[in-house]
Amino acid sequence: MARSRCFSLTLFFSFLILSLSEMAFSATFTIVNQCSYTVWPGLLSGAGTPSLPTTGFALNPGASFPITVPTSWSGRIWGRTHCSEDSTTGKFTCVTGDCGSGTVECSRGGAVPPATLAEFTLNGAGGLDFYDVSLVDGYNLPMLVVPRNGAGGNCTTTGCVVDLNGACPAELKVVNAPSTTEGSGGACVACKSACEAFGDPKYCCSGEYGTPNTCKPSMYSELFKNACPRAYSYAYDDGTSTFTCESADYVVTFCPAPSASKKASGEELPGQGSVSLVSSGSSHLMSSTPLPMLLVAAILHLWRR
Ligand SMILES: *[C@@H]1O[C@H](CO)[C@@H](O)[C@H](O)[C@H]1NC(C)=O
Repeated sequence: MARSRCFSLTLFFSFLILSLSEMAFSATFTIVNQCSYTVWPGLLSGAGTPSLPTTGFALNPGASFPITVPTSWSGRIWGRTHCSEDSTTGKFTCVTGDCGSGTVECSRGGAVPPATLAEFTLNGAGGLDFYDVSLVDGYNLPMLVVPRNGAGGNCTTTGCVVDLNGACPAELKVVNAPSTTEGSGGACVACKSACEAFGDPKYCCSGEYGTPNTCKPSMYSELFKNACPRAYSYAYDDGTSTFTCESADYVVTFCPAPSASKKASGEELPGQGSVSLVSSGSSHLMSSTPLPMLLVAAILHLWRR
């Protein structure tokens, strides 16, 4: 009995030290797919930051996948949709968010626009994590970033939960080829940024428009901003779109609300319902028990025996 208690204590402290060091040296990103269709997340590490255990994988509807992210990591996460492998060449491609690798793993490939992007810089200035959801490179599916167990800064939920494919102006629409096996042919699967659609420096904040003073919101960026007030709608949208946390974990969810997930697959008309989700803060979305709590409960259970 005494022996087993001693063993349990050792176990307890090993776990404690392990989880403390985990907390100090890495973050956990949990990628969740609440869409009614498969999403293939893509992950790109910024230049000079540590690489991740995976750069791309398939995530079934309802599935979630945790990733341990090293300290000081910076990079992007996005969702690829309508992906398939060519039956003769074996090449893997996606209609939206493709990373050009030809495989499910993206390796060093970034998302081909348009794609909704979650952007992170962990342990940046002042030891803070900086994160945002960006529509600067367009939009392909609803995405939400929820910090967990973080402190300080403006450590709150951000993202774009609205179906912008349904609300996309005709001149920005990306329409799926009519003959796909998934039956989504002819549907709007993504919405381009005005920069990508027209290449105009005014929209791209390039050339003489390359400063915050000269590059202003456009009719198109305002359309994005009105639908998704917390997301980046153009290059100099920092003030209302960048969020900060201290040592948080993050949950990145595709199609964060049931109504949004149906709309993203083009089954419903765009409506008001999803818009109100943005201002209500989407706090109803996450309710899982934190892992450390489970760990402590398990250890206490062992200890008592
Ligand atoms: C959050 O805090 C950062 C850093 O202080 C600031 O730059 C940014 O504008 C703030 N974001 C919002 C949405 O208020």
